[in-house]
Amino acid sequence: MRKYRMDNIIIRKVREHPDMADAAARWFHEKWGIPLEAYQESIGQCLKAGIEHLQESPVPQWYLAMNGEDIAGGLGVIENDYHNRKDLSPNVCAVYVEEAFRCRGIAGMLLEAVCSDMAAQGIDTLYLLTDHDSFYERYGWEFHCLVRGDGEPDMSRMYVHRQGAVG
Ligand SMILES: CC(C)(COP(=O)(O)OP(=O)(O)OC[C@H]1O[C@@H](n2cnc3c(N)ncnc32)[C@H](O)[C@@H]1OP(=O)(O)O)[C@@H](O)C(=O)NCCC(=O)NCCS
Repeated sequence: MRKYRMDNIIIRKVREHPDMADAAARWFHEKWGIPLEAYQESIGQCLKAGIEHLQESPVPQWYLAMNGEDIAGGLGVIENDYHNRKDLSPNVCAVYVEEAFRCRGIAGMLLEAVCSDMAAQGIDTLYLLTDHDSFYERYGWEFHCLVRGDGEPDMSRMYVHRQGAVG
């Protein structure tokens, strides 16, 4: 992956840093409260595809924004972020930046990294499920439609990002 660096922050792809797998799974679990095993399984699958050079399997994929050896932020790419529109795939998920590091453009850098790295692996279109209504626009994402999250009473917003799209 191309280098993404800003001040002391650098983006790492967990597939290229398998030593970070356990810390990454624990960090995402702590941030989102989803069972640790779910992250361990997805990150394990991501590493396995990397080791076996299954280039046709760029998903799942996980990225970290590192401040030295500390995780300042991260996100993943999975087939489906637990919603009913299985056709809108793959999905950027678990976007999170530590409070102390917010409003420095770290989420923006993570989003730029994931979009361009996925495009380099042949995936130009990414989807993202969120309740935010004015954040992703700043990074070139567009509202696509409402979808129902699994077990959710209310609809959530689905965004789309097309790499290379004008505007
Ligand atoms: C949303 C989040 C990822 C943004 O991370 P970040 O690194 O601070 O984002 P950036 O620095 O790239 O962008 C910050 C800008 O977005 C704005 N912003 C942050 N959250 C926003 C929101 N919910 N709606 C609109 N704008 C928002 C900030 O005001 C800031 O604007 P400014 O540059 O004009 O001051 C971070 O606040 C976070 O982790 N929140 C908790 C988890 C979460 O909601 N994740 C998204 C799940 S879909």
